[in-house]
Amino acid sequence: MEAPVSKRSHWGSRIGFILAAAGSAVGLGNIWKFPYVTGENGGGIFVLIYLACVLLVGLPVMIAEILIGRSTQNSPVGAFKSLAGPRSPWVGMGWLSVLSSFVLLSFYSVVAGWSLHYAWLSISGQLAGLGPDNVAPLFGSLHASAGANLFWHLVFMGLTIAVIYGGVSKGVERWSRILMPALLIMMLVLLINSLTLDGFGKAFQFLFGFHQDKFTAGGALEALGQAFFSLSLGMGAMLTYGSYLRRRDDVVGASVTISALDTCIALVASLMLFPIIFSYGMEPAAGPGLVFISVPIALSQMPGTTFLATLFFGLLVFAALTSAISMLEVATSYFIDQRGWKRHRAAVAAGLAIAVLGLPAALSGGTGLFGSGMEGLVGKNWFDSLDYLVTNWMLPLGGLGIALFTAWRMDRRLRQEEFLSGSRLRLFYQGWVFLLKFPVPVAILLVFLHAVGLL
Ligand code: PFF
Repeated sequence: MEAPVSKRSHWGSRIGFILAAAGSAVGLGNIWKFPYVTGENGGGIFVLIYLACVLLVGLPVMIAEILIGRSTQNSPVGAFKSLAGPRSPWVGMGWLSVLSSFVLLSFYSVVAGWSLHYAWLSISGQLAGLGPDNVAPLFGSLHASAGANLFWHLVFMGLTIAVIYGGVSKGVERWSRILMPALLIMMLVLLINSLTLDGFGKAFQFLFGFHQDKFTAGGALEALGQAFFSLSLGMGAMLTYGSYLRRRDDVVGASVTISALDTCIALVASLMLFPIIFSYGMEPAAGPGLVFISVPIALSQMPGTTFLATLFFGLLVFAALTSAISMLEVATSYFIDQRGWKRHRAAVAAGLAIAVLGLPAALSGGTGLFGSGMEGLVGKNWFDSLDYLVTNWMLPLGGLGIALFTAWRMDRRLRQEEFLSGSRLRLFYQGWVFLLKFPVPVAILLVFLHAVGLL
């Protein structure tokens, strides 16, 4: 049973939508992943390619996603049903979104849980008292501890469910309006602190200088995958948020703002982290441990450890929470729109199911079946396997589906009307369709070829 369209919730204001969608985009992908992926790929040229991916691939797909949501006033499964027909294979794209939201949030919440753990260590002053030698092994022991991982994962899922329980304007929008400005202020304070450090010049040079020797084709494809992840594309999150817009709202302008904000925050996060790393003699290519090992070691040596570390890990938690709520909203809106459930029941049921699905991810750092047991069998633990599956396959596949559907299958008149409705950037219509028809699908196919080792 589908809920009547007239009852659909809407955003309270334009800025509310922008903050919520930017909140979805700005997450662990910007602060945890972007700096370390940039570090591993040598900085400079990777950043430039990333910017091109955002502009030429990410932005067109984001416009398409939000536009489909606004046009159908429905979440992914219902949106494809109404545009392509209830029995069309395109509805599979909607199902893929719901599946991706379950899988992604189940392990995203584990990393968010690590952030909560560090935020707690910081705010309670424990990090300041430890000194660098004792900070270094903290992450290893957290990673391996089943109890700590499970505890923080469940706390984080509880917070996420609580926000989604409140609804669109009273939950998602209200919290985005609080958390996003707080995040920006915290980031600004940390950036100012980094500007005063010796390592700032070196960090700037690392990020924006050209280091051709480090450039690889694999790095370029990783930049595309990262752009998809960071802009929250291919999973129906933007589509679902778009479905709470009204017809006169500007999709194109909003997409430009959201993409620009997300990209600036990824760059600012790097400009804030790398000076800390360089000033304390740490390696920029430390991998996923950059934020949870190198940064705390550096912070523990700086004056004002408790203040700075609380700001930093608080920032990480806020960023993770505004992204996680968009993932849970995809799953929740499926039950509301397609099954006719009440929001409260849908939010709790979907959230609990994801929390349970996340248990093996929370146990992946240990020596049990989902950790080193699985590593021995298939080379990757449960957490890494899901991360690989979602980032390299599910999100790009979702993005490819959206691009192909909008460019080749959607009714042309409807597509044009929808693009132009409420938009001040009408001139770009032809360019947008062209990008979705050819360059975007080709770029995504290259990612797939890379993922299977053919490139
Ligand atoms: N964009 C989020 C981040 O950068 O952490 C992750 C994400 C959120 C991906 C929502 C996909 C999604 F639908």
